[in-house]
Amino acid sequence: MEFYDVLKKRRSIRLYKDTPVPDEALERILEAVQNAPTACNRQPFKFFIVKDPVRREKLASVYKEDWLKTAPVIVAAASDVNKAWRRREGDSIADADTAIAMEHFVLAAAEENLGTCWICAFERAKANAALDLPEGSWNVFALTPLGYAAAGPVPFVRKEIGEIAEIL
Ligand SMILES: Cc1cc2nc3c(=O)[nH]c(=O)nc-3n(C[C@H](O)[C@H](O)[C@H](O)COP(=O)(O)O)c2cc1C
Repeated sequence: MEFYDVLKKRRSIRLYKDTPVPDEALERILEAVQNAPTACNRQPFKFFIVKDPVRREKLASVYKEDWLKTAPVIVAAASDVNKAWRRREGDSIADADTAIAMEHFVLAAAEENLGTCWICAFERAKANAALDLPEGSWNVFALTPLGYAAAGPVPFVRKEIGEIAEIL
């Protein structure tokens, strides 16, 4: 698929078929994550690919909407503030690095005809507990389901380009 077509194709999918995700597709998606840029190349993220039904149910329960449970795979993208580059002011860039890697994930998934949906509306501590992550290390930043869409996205609504960009 052409790059610009992939960008248009990627939409948030909120209902999934139980068809399994092919291993080869997942491998290619994770290679796309590996290609993501990070500040000072620190790569302060880790993607937990949750397929096990018991663990998946546990992780899905940190989010209020039941549709997440329909996905055959749930992915948790976690960051570690201590592994990341810090700005002069001291704040860690870990979540920005992880967000970029996550967007590589969802765009590569779109190329594979797999649906995703960024999810941040959850308590990070609860997601960490669902994955048995010890305190002070990986901190779940975002979740996404991964699978084949069982329903289309909501209609596309965006600001005009003149509102989101200004040429000076
Ligand atoms: C950082 C971030 C957090 C998001 N969190 C949620 C969420 O918790 N639940 C949800 O249903 N969608 C979430 N979304 C998806 C947005 O609602 C969606 O991207 C937006 O409405 C545009 O629709 P589209 O992705 O289909 O183009 C999130 C998206 C981003 C980028």
